[in-house]
Amino acid sequence: MAPTTIHLRAETKPLERRSPLSPASAKALLDAGYILRVERSADRIYEDKEYEAVGAEMVPAGTWVNAPTDHIILGLKEISDGDSPLPHPYIHFQHCYKKQDGWADALSRYARGNGVLYDLEFLVDPSGRRVAAFGYWAGYSGTAIAMLSWAHQVLHPGTPQGSVPVFDSAPKLVEYVKAALAPAVAANNGELPRAIVIGALGRCGNGARDLCQAIGLPKDHILAWDLAETKKGGPFKEIATSDIFVNCVYLGALRIPPFVTFESLAEAGDERRLRVICDVSCDPNSENNPIPVYSTYSSFIHPTVPVKQTVENPELRVIAIDHLPTLVARESSDEFSSLLLPSLLTLKDRDTEGVWTRAQQTFKDRVKELPASN
Ligand SMILES: NC(=O)c1ccc[n+]([C@@H]2O[C@H](COP(=O)([O-])OP(=O)(O)OC[C@H]3O[C@@H](n4cnc5c(N)ncnc54)[C@H](O)[C@@H]3O)[C@@H](O)[C@H]2O)c1
Repeated sequence: MAPTTIHLRAETKPLERRSPLSPASAKALLDAGYILRVERSADRIYEDKEYEAVGAEMVPAGTWVNAPTDHIILGLKEISDGDSPLPHPYIHFQHCYKKQDGWADALSRYARGNGVLYDLEFLVDPSGRRVAAFGYWAGYSGTAIAMLSWAHQVLHPGTPQGSVPVFDSAPKLVEYVKAALAPAVAANNGELPRAIVIGALGRCGNGARDLCQAIGLPKDHILAWDLAETKKGGPFKEIATSDIFVNCVYLGALRIPPFVTFESLAEAGDERRLRVICDVSCDPNSENNPIPVYSTYSSFIHPTVPVKQTVENPELRVIAIDHLPTLVARESSDEFSSLLLPSLLTLKDRDTEGVWTRAQQTFKDRVKELPASN
């Protein structure tokens, strides 16, 4: 049987530095007999020379378009908008299976081209759990930004926080957060912030707790809650009386009572310390959003949005960034890539291997939902 070729695309989404394939995973694929083509990219967190060093064949950006149709095209984010049919097998996040805006136009391109989309969000093990996700570093990065936001509000109340820089590594991020916190803690009578993390046992929650520890928050300053603690039903006073709330729950289909509301914030009165909510789960438009005190996304450039209907003192701001792991692109790519690698190593058997056949079935099911006009 001819060897299987995997072609790693250069990402085209602005500011995206992450990659689903690290040089270490590239080497593992080459060692296993796969042919690997890597498009050159100046924006990717891994340098071209790191792939060259492990023996990948480097090709110009955008050449995937004309690759033979049996080559597997690997990327992270969606393929740029367009109308051309897509004839290859593709692996990336397309964000079109939950009927997001433009879903039918995006999905119909694969159907029209006789291609297959193995959407990374829907690569699951036999129990339905995703094989690769970015959670840990999302929780870590979001909590870091929450600490920066708290420090900013203590030192410069009433002014919006400026943009968040990107970091070459997680230790650099931790250093930066510690330096930013020091003067704020001094101005706060020497008191470190207290944080509550909900969804603390999941991937994002673990990252959130680890960031708190990395910057030196004592254990008694971190309330780590998961299902057991929230089963009594919200809203929870403990959120209003913490300085920072980090939401890391995975929202299922079941509706849950909100964790925090305008009323619960007002009821806390003088006991309210809450200044920052970091909604790592980031579902502001979901009917099931357990934090119904805001409705817009924020970004690395404008990291917080104000909660308007609260008593002003202290001011309350929300971080709702839906691509948090980009902040520490190397570590998050390393993590994602190592979780994805075992599945990539079975790509040559993708017509019989469960992880790929399940994803292919999901694709076929979604294609059946396309309106007739597509
Ligand atoms: N903002 C971003 O950039 C970003 C990146 C990655 C993931 N996410 C999102 O973060 C969320 C969490 O992802 P994950 O990978 O950590 O999920 P996960 O399944 O690993 O963890 C979720 C945790 O939430 C807990 N949980 C669920 N419902 C709860 C409730 N009602 N009360 C308390 N705890 C509850 C679960 O028990 C679990 O421990 C997802 O919605 C995911 O899409 C966001």
